[in-house]
Amino acid sequence: MLPFCLEPGLEACVLYKDGKWLAFNRSCPHAGIDLLVGGDIEDLSELNAGVVVGCPAHTYLFDPVVGTCLWDASRGLPETPPLQTYEVSERCGQIWVKPRPLPKPVAKEDWDQAAPVRPVRLLSHGL
Ligand code: FES
Repeated sequence: MLPFCLEPGLEACVLYKDGKWLAFNRSCPHAGIDLLVGGDIEDLSELNAGVVVGCPAHTYLFDPVVGTCLWDASRGLPETPPLQTYEVSERCGQIWVKPRPLPKPVAKEDWDQAAPVRPVRLLSHGL
């Protein structure tokens, strides 16, 4: 994981995982813990969630592509704001990032508490 600074006080990181570039803010949207210090990039494919970012403080999970909070301690509809993520491209031997628009909150009627990861991920990708 490589850290970078977008502007004073706004730090993010970029990493290459399974053939894809991922970039997101280092500060967890829940309470500001640094995701680069003790945070996890986990493959939860067995739960149909794909790669997720896990925060070390309260174990909330975020989609590193669109930023949606996939799980928070409420065990209901996640109330945590999304993680700012970035489009990543390689040009002329350099890595470029561009902020992605933040995803819309998940509607209550679209949330399935029995399967808290998959429905949000599918909706966040517009599938
Ligand atoms: S600060 Fe990240 S889950 Fe609480």
